Amino acid sequence: METLNFIGGRWQAAQDARQFEVRNPADDSLIATVADGGAADARLAADAAAGALHAWKARPPRERCLILKKWQALIERDVEPLAALISREQGKPLAESRGEIAYAAGYVEWFAEEGVRAHGEVIAAPVTSKRYIVLREAVGVVAVVTPWNFPAAMIARKIAPALAAGCTVVAKPAEDTPLTSLALVKLAEEAGVPPGVLNIVPASRDRTPEVVGEWLADGRVRKISFTGSTPVGKLLARESATTLKKLSLELGGNAPFIVFEDADINAAVEGLMASKFRNGGQTCVSPNRVYVHQTVHDRFVDKLAARVGALKVGPATWPQAEIGPMINARALDKIERHVNDAVAKGAKAVVGGCRVRNDVATGPNYYAPTVLTGATKEMALSCEETFGPVAAIFPFATEEEVVALANDTPYGLAGYFYSNDVKRIWRVASALETGMVGINEGAIAAQAAPFGGVKESGYGREGSHWGLDDYLHTKYLCQGNLA
Ligand code: SIN
Repeated sequence: METLNFIGGRWQAAQDARQFEVRNPADDSLIATVADGGAADARLAADAAAGALHAWKARPPRERCLILKKWQALIERDVEPLAALISREQGKPLAESRGEIAYAAGYVEWFAEEGVRAHGEVIAAPVTSKRYIVLREAVGVVAVVTPWNFPAAMIARKIAPALAAGCTVVAKPAEDTPLTSLALVKLAEEAGVPPGVLNIVPASRDRTPEVVGEWLADGRVRKISFTGSTPVGKLLARESATTLKKLSLELGGNAPFIVFEDADINAAVEGLMASKFRNGGQTCVSPNRVYVHQTVHDRFVDKLAARVGALKVGPATWPQAEIGPMINARALDKIERHVNDAVAKGAKAVVGGCRVRNDVATGPNYYAPTVLTGATKEMALSCEETFGPVAAIFPFATEEEVVALANDTPYGLAGYFYSNDVKRIWRVASALETGMVGINEGAIAAQAAPFGGVKESGYGREGSHWGLDDYLHTKYLCQGNLA
């Protein structure tokens, strides 16, 4: 298990030798102590990335592609140990961790292949004496700051396009889950990523502002890619203004999930199960508000309650586990606050609604998969992201009403709806103020598709060819005196 900083091709302790603990959310046991990077480490990492930039950017895209393909193959070779590591530090069931490793490797493959297609353009000039040419060039050193909920996929989806584009990287993984990211960087080293091209500095919660602050102030760092909360995204936007960095911000969501009266109810229940309970609901695109038309409400709730009530809660090591522990005590407290607030304001927990502790789920961080009925917009869970296994059902009467409710939030990451009326499908898909829309589908994220939000859910896209664009800038060449 790698536990040190990786800077300039060397694994090294923090400059002041500080360390922090990484604990298993299933039982709070200690997994490892990890180098606790500070400003000095962040500076060394930026020095290394800046030093390696010129040579890496100058390499033919095909050579970068081959290194990335090797990285992909190594990730796929190590699927079992990597999945076990995710499950240990993040808590998701092993089957989901295996899926996440395949998902992460898929991003590396996608961008390896996309990097060789970063074409420019030739524009018709208005006179014969000139040629207008547009090149796409790497933006430079990129700082990548990743979340704990998908410790492999999120770092892969940022590092792979950066390296494919010819950028060099300084990365700070989430403090709860640095070990998977460190393991992936180790494989990147094995794949032949040259020293200085990829650097990683883990840091504790206390020291994270120091590390990221160093990169924000450094004019050589030309871009920040961040996935996390909206308040932190806004802070990064403000602080990076002094050096006018390019930003990709994948921030909080408050996804609506709408079931119209003409929907296939069984498909809607299955779609909600897939999108709401994946990773125990700790997913930015997880539905937070489930709007169900009043005429199909009871039928939908009965079917959903039967499915949710059957979910098995337990540690990743338990082969039957479908919902693991939440990441930490703060996450549990928030879920509990939301459910208690909703119940106090008239909601009913038809399934769950409490913490779980039993012979299998022995640790402190388990919450029962929950279905709440009678949710209203006065409840905290209608305007804050719960980030847990809680499906709150809001009844509605008309399309107009539900679209207004769905858009009544500063967030705009994902939205979902189920309907079999083709005219309604096009109307609602264009009316929803979100960056992504699932239409009769709960699983929307994919390597080939652009992932990202609008409004206060951020800007920039990950995945697809737009995900590569975010790491490139446009250079225009004008050649004259040709006639
Ligand atoms: C996220 O929660 O930020 C990412 C989820 C995904 O890629 O599906």
